[in-house]
Amino acid sequence: MFFYKTLINWYLKNNRDLPWRKTQSPYEVWLSEIMLQQTRVAQGLPYFLKFTEAFPTVFDLANADESEVLKLWQGLGYYSRARNLHFTAKYVANELHGQFPNSYKELLKLKGIGDYTASAIASICFNEPAAVVDGNVYRVLSRFFGIDTPINSAEGIKEFKVLAQSIIQKDNPGRYNQAIMDFGALHCKPQNPLCNDCPLASKCVAFEKAKVSEFPVKIKKIKIKKRYFNYLVVISEDGKTLFSERTGKGIWQGLYQFPLLETSKNISVDELISNDEFTAVIPNDASISLFNKEEIVHKLSHQHLITKFWIIKVNSIEGSLVDWNDIEQFPTSVLISNFLKEYSKIE
Ligand code: ADE
Repeated sequence: MFFYKTLINWYLKNNRDLPWRKTQSPYEVWLSEIMLQQTRVAQGLPYFLKFTEAFPTVFDLANADESEVLKLWQGLGYYSRARNLHFTAKYVANELHGQFPNSYKELLKLKGIGDYTASAIASICFNEPAAVVDGNVYRVLSRFFGIDTPINSAEGIKEFKVLAQSIIQKDNPGRYNQAIMDFGALHCKPQNPLCNDCPLASKCVAFEKAKVSEFPVKIKKIKIKKRYFNYLVVISEDGKTLFSERTGKGIWQGLYQFPLLETSKNISVDELISNDEFTAVIPNDASISLFNKEEIVHKLSHQHLITKFWIIKVNSIEGSLVDWNDIEQFPTSVLISNFLKEYSKIE
């Protein structure tokens, strides 16, 4: 209760005077909340004013041309949000007679409305105690309660939602949601938070441990590298194929594979046959077809292998040959083993 009451007291003195706070109209609250997922309040405000001037009601937005909506959205980025906004306006205007659903659960069913927006609208417009969790809320809660579960992990997302939901009260939940977001934006800031003048400091775990800057915790997402693999599945008339041990360090060292041609992008059959590595191995009377018409993406922890298996029928071939009938005896990667299973179904 200390946390809740202190935040409300802070908000009553410090809240920002914003146009969408003068109303409980779901249309305006929805517009503002969608826009504020794209940008900060100061940058979002002119967009909100332009939109509500051009489209004072959900019917006006529904009847607008998509190009007009996108034009007004220009600069906010992430245009699928604007398209969803327009789609949902048409749905609300035409199917729901202009009435937005009045509960978290029903709001969530609308296109472009996720947990955050449904909670914001349900609490601000319909007094439903549905807690919002945005970047500000993660920061305030993780610091005050000293929670170090990464906020970008499935576990963290769940834990913070449960915590936020356990704090919110039935008495004016919309005000509380806006209070914690304003507090995060203005006071418990990412950099240089105002801890020395903070009404929550006496019970703030991060402050007590002098670790405010360490919260919230995020896992560093490793960058996934895309690699383009072309396996040359050469099959000779007498049932032999090129299959040899993978040398060098790295993935699948010591496992057997077909000749592998790695390229910097997806390639076509024409690009394949004009590749020097290809012409060095494959005779020019070969007949070539692509086995997997659909892209195979083999996902490893740090890389995605976008793979094509090229079936290359030849009269004869030289190199590290194995008999196709014996191929199952060789250790190989899951990627190749899956291919062999699929291939055996059709041959
Ligand atoms: N950020 C997004 N929506 C907000 C709101 N309603 N109040 C404060 N900050 C916000």
